[in-house]
Amino acid sequence: MKSEHLPGAPADTQQAWQALHTAACQPYRLAGRWAWHWARGKLGRDPVFRGMLERGDLLPQARVVDIGCGQGLIASLLQACAVMQAAGQWPAGWPRPASASAYTGIELMPKDVARARRALAGLPLQPQFICRDMCQAAVPPCDVAVILDVLHYVDHAAQLDVLQKVRQALAPRGRLLLRVGDAANQRGFAISQWVDHVVTVARGHRVPPTWGRTLQAWTTLLQGLGFVVRSIPQSQGTPFANVLLVADLPGPA
Ligand SMILES: C[S@@+](CC[C@H](N)C(=O)[O-])C[C@H]1O[C@@H](n2cnc3c(N)ncnc32)[C@H](O)[C@@H]1O
Repeated sequence: MKSEHLPGAPADTQQAWQALHTAACQPYRLAGRWAWHWARGKLGRDPVFRGMLERGDLLPQARVVDIGCGQGLIASLLQACAVMQAAGQWPAGWPRPASASAYTGIELMPKDVARARRALAGLPLQPQFICRDMCQAAVPPCDVAVILDVLHYVDHAAQLDVLQKVRQALAPRGRLLLRVGDAANQRGFAISQWVDHVVTVARGHRVPPTWGRTLQAWTTLLQGLGFVVRSIPQSQGTPFANVLLVADLPGPA
C-alpha cells in the first residue's frame, strides 16, 4: 500500500503532521480528484484532526465508531498514525500514538460512503462503512465514538436517541468525542450554520434544517447520561462557535 511509506523520521511535530496529512490523503487518489482535494483541504484546515492527536484524545487500540463519517477521514488518519508508530517516528512531543483496533463509519450519504470504500477498502485497518441514517443504525460496541459536526442535523429528541445508543455501545471507560456549535455564541453559531449550508449544497446534498443547543445544554445532556465532560474550544482564529466535548464514561481502572 503506497501510504505505508512515511519518508524521513519527523524531527518535530510540524513535520510529523505534514507526513501524516500526506499519508492520510494519499488513498483518496483512488476515489478521484474531488475526494483527494476534499481530504487535503479538510484535514489541512480543520484543527480538530491534528488537535486530537496532539492531545491524545483517541484512546490506544480503540474500537472506533465515527458517526456522520463523511468519506472516512479519521480512518485514513488512524491508518497513517499506525504506520508512523510502527516506523518509530511518532514525535516525542505528542502523547501516546493514536491507534485503532477497528473502525466503523456510519454515514447517511451514499456518495460519501462510495468514496470512502473506494479509497480505504485496502487499508490494513479494514475500515467498515455503514450507509444508514444514524437514527436508524445500530451502534456497534466501541471504546471511542466520534461525532464531529453531525448531531445538529437531527432534532433534539433524535439527538438524545443517538447519544443514548452511543452510551450503550461504549465500553466502561469509553470516550465520546463530540464536536458541536455553541448556540450561546449567536454570531459564531450563525456563521457555522451558514458555512455548513453552503458546503452541504456544494457536496450535492439536500439541506436539512438544523437544531442547536448551548454548550451548557450539551454538557448537561451528556452529564445526565453518565459522562464526565470537558470542553475544548475549537474556534480560535475562526469566526465559528465550535467546541469539542471530550466525554468519558467511568469504569474500573
Ligand atoms: C459537516 S459533515 C462532517 C463530516 C465528518 N464528521 C467530518 O468532520 O469531516 C456532516 C456529516 O454528517 C452526515 N449526516 C448528516 N445527517 C446524518 C444522519 N442522519 N445519519 C448519518 N450521517 C448523517 C452528513 O452526510 C455529513 O457527511
